[in-house]
Amino acid sequence: MYFCDMIKKKLYIETFGCQMNVVDSEVVASILQEEYEITQNAEEADLYLFNTCAVRENAEKKIWNKLEHFKGIKKKNKRLKLGVIGCMAQHIGKEFEKDTVVDLVAGPDAYRDIPTLLKESEIKDFVSNTELSLTETYDKILPIRLSNEDISGFVSITRGCNNFCTYCIVPYTRGRERSRNADDILREVEDLAQNGYHEVSLLGQNVNSYKLETENGVIGFPELLAMVAEKFPQLRVRFTTSHPKDISDELIQCVADHKNICNHIHLPVQSGSNKILKAMNRKYTREWYLNRIDKIKELIPDCSITTDIFCGFCGETPEDHQQSLSLMREVHFDSAFMFKYSEREGTYAAKKMEDDIPEDVKTERLNELIAVQNDLSLESNRADIGKCFEIMIEGKSKRNDNEVFGRTPQNKVVIIADENFKPGDKVNVVITKATSATMFGEKVNHA
Ligand code: SAH
Ligand code: SF4
Ligand code: F3S
Repeated sequence: MYFCDMIKKKLYIETFGCQMNVVDSEVVASILQEEYEITQNAEEADLYLFNTCAVRENAEKKIWNKLEHFKGIKKKNKRLKLGVIGCMAQHIGKEFEKDTVVDLVAGPDAYRDIPTLLKESEIKDFVSNTELSLTETYDKILPIRLSNEDISGFVSITRGCNNFCTYCIVPYTRGRERSRNADDILREVEDLAQNGYHEVSLLGQNVNSYKLETENGVIGFPELLAMVAEKFPQLRVRFTTSHPKDISDELIQCVADHKNICNHIHLPVQSGSNKILKAMNRKYTREWYLNRIDKIKELIPDCSITTDIFCGFCGETPEDHQQSLSLMREVHFDSAFMFKYSEREGTYAAKKMEDDIPEDVKTERLNELIAVQNDLSLESNRADIGKCFEIMIEGKSKRNDNEVFGRTPQNKVVIIADENFKPGDKVNVVITKATSATMFGEKVNHA
């Protein structure tokens, strides 16, 4: 072999969208590792990949803007290859064919094919694979972790989604739900633990519908979660995203029973109105949701509860919107991701329902959601003043070099004075001050 054969080309991946995309980028880096090594310096890349999201129109706009910017870069650097992968590639892959800047398109189930696509792209202007699979789970591919600063690693335990919420593009971009082999999941968690990670998040679009049939019976999500927590007592364990229809007493009990499973449940409600929940095909009612919240509060009194909620879905009246606001107050969410409805081509809602709420009304309603949540977050953080928590240090605080920040098991950020802490250190703190976004604390010797 000549020396030049041994020099690997450079790969730069920019990841957008959800945490599942973060893991997918690591899977792609692993698939390409024979020929490419990861670079953190975009300018030296031979291959530049955008791992994209399609969940709302804004997510796609961001990528179009980036591609526009790339036209100039590619003119200067003719050998640079540009690929669009992920959900937007799956959703509107064909449209990139017209766009001369993109060389390669690969959907979320086509990543094993990227090396072949790259070879083909040596002789073709545009190559693409957007086949969805019923079975692909990228088992046996150990993701290459792309950041060496993280203390927390992600492991996908399911791929795809079968729920077909009427507004949502994910079932079309990610295909049918598949649960990954439990042994592979445990092997990936082990790899994280061995590589110095202190926390693992188990991921799925509907993480709590995990179900694996084995010779010894069915492994459901609570069993898998318990297996991970018990095998890796040194790791903090988190999981996301739970669907309210699948949040069983058994799962809540499992979180309550394991000290290292963080007392935080992210439970997207989407709307507080039964009429809208039905139109969304969410498969639960407001009453069911509130019953699940009561159960969480009963079994895990210090559990934080966060949510996703969006306004302006088809047919949402002012009364429906009020029901969302009243539900937020009733649950008293600790924090929330809030959005305006964004129609996605190809979904049931886009085909059969009218996107009838004017943009200015959507904006007004979103502002109301945000105002209510800000008050709730502030109250929630203030209620922690005087309480003790174990935080795990993540890094330097952005506003002050003499301070570091960490997270409570409830996933709240706490800033404390730096005493030469390292990322991953666990420190007992008492909360002294709070804003709606951040808490401030002091180190104490006992939790
Ligand atoms: N699987 C998760 C979340 C998936 S997407 C769940 O079922 O909750 C993340 C969030 O984006 C959703 O919870 C929803 O609040 C929001 N979302 C999804 N599609 C949307 C759309 N078309 N317009 C606005 N928000 C949307
Ligand atoms: Fe989308 Fe609903 Fe699946 Fe979540 S559960 S990914 S919102 S279809
Ligand atoms: Fe976006 Fe795809 Fe995740 S649409 S939210 S990147 S599954």
